[in-house]
Amino acid sequence: MSARVAVLAGSGKTGQAVRRGLAARGVDSVAVGSAAWATPADLAAALRGCDAAYLIAPNLHPDEPDHVRRALAAAREVGIERVVHHSVAAPYVPVMPHHLGKAVAEHVVRTSGLAWTVLQPCAYTQNLLPGVADGVLRVAYDPDAPFGLVDLDDVGEAAAEVLVGDGHVGSTYELGGPTLVSVHDVARAAGDVLGREVAVERTTPEEWAAGEGAGLDERPREWLRAMFAYYDDHGLPTGAVPLTALLGRAPTPVADVVRRELT
Ligand SMILES: NC(=O)c1ccc[n+]([C@@H]2O[C@H](COP(=O)([O-])OP(=O)(O)OC[C@H]3O[C@@H](n4cnc5c(N)ncnc54)[C@H](OP(=O)(O)O)[C@@H]3O)[C@@H](O)[C@H]2O)c1
Repeated sequence: MSARVAVLAGSGKTGQAVRRGLAARGVDSVAVGSAAWATPADLAAALRGCDAAYLIAPNLHPDEPDHVRRALAAAREVGIERVVHHSVAAPYVPVMPHHLGKAVAEHVVRTSGLAWTVLQPCAYTQNLLPGVADGVLRVAYDPDAPFGLVDLDDVGEAAAEVLVGDGHVGSTYELGGPTLVSVHDVARAAGDVLGREVAVERTTPEEWAAGEGAGLDERPREWLRAMFAYYDDHGLPTGAVPLTALLGRAPTPVADVVRRELT
C-alpha cells in the first residue's frame, strides 16, 4: 500500500481526479507542478518523502519520453520504487505524435527497473461537456466514429486502485467507458438528461486548424489536427473490461456523467 503518492501534473484536470481517487482511499498525495522541474535537484526534492509516483505528462508535451525519463531518474534518486504511467488508449499510432510519444514513454517505464503499471485511458467524457453545456457539440471529425469515452472520475478511482491494491505491478490496462459511443450518441444522451436539444456540428481538421486552432502554436495545432484526422477515420474504440475489473462495477455511462456534472 502506498502511504504517500507524488502526482506529477497533479494540479491539472487529470491530476486532480487522481488525487481525489487517492483521498477517497485515505491515501495522502502531493501535487508536483511545473515549478518543480527547474533542475533535477528540485524535482528530486519535490518527490522526497513519497512512496510512489503517478506520472502524468503535460498535454501534448513535445518530448514525453524525455519528460518521463527525468521523472524516473528523480524517483530513483529519492528511493521511490513504485510508479504508474498515465498513457493513452492506442499509444502506438505513428500518425499521432503525442500518442507515439506515450508509446515510447511506456517503454521507458517498463525498462526502468522500477515496479510499474501503465494506464491507457480513452478520451474523457468530460472533454465534451463544454459543448454539451453550450448546446452544440462542434467536432473536427466524424460524429459517428466510435469512442470508449471514459469518465475522468472513474479514471481517478482506477488510478487509486492500481496504487493501493495488490497485483497491479507489471500490468497495462486500457480504460474505456461502458460502451462504445459516438458524438451523436453523446448529444442524444445529453439531450435526454437535460431535456433540450444538443446539436452536432461537424468541421474538417483543416477548417478547425484555420479557425478554432489558429490561436495555438504550430506544433500543438498540427498534432491536434493529426489527432482529429485519425479520429475521423478510426475513432478511438477502447474496451471496458479492465476498468470494470479495477472499479468492481460497470464504468459510468455518458448520461450519468452529464447528470452529475451539468444538472
Ligand atoms: N484529455 C483526455 O481526454 C486524455 C485522455 C487520455 C490521456 N490524457 C493525458 O493526460 C495528461 C494530462 O492531461 P490534462 O488535460 O489533465 O492536463 P492539464 O490539465 O493541461 O495539466 C496541466 C498540468 O501539467 C503541469 N505542467 C504544465 N507544463 C508543465 C511542464 N513543462 N513540466 C511539468 N509539468 C507541467 C501543470 O502544472 P502547473 O499547474 O504547476 O503549471 C499542471 O499540473 C496528458 O498527458 C494527456 O495526453 C488525456
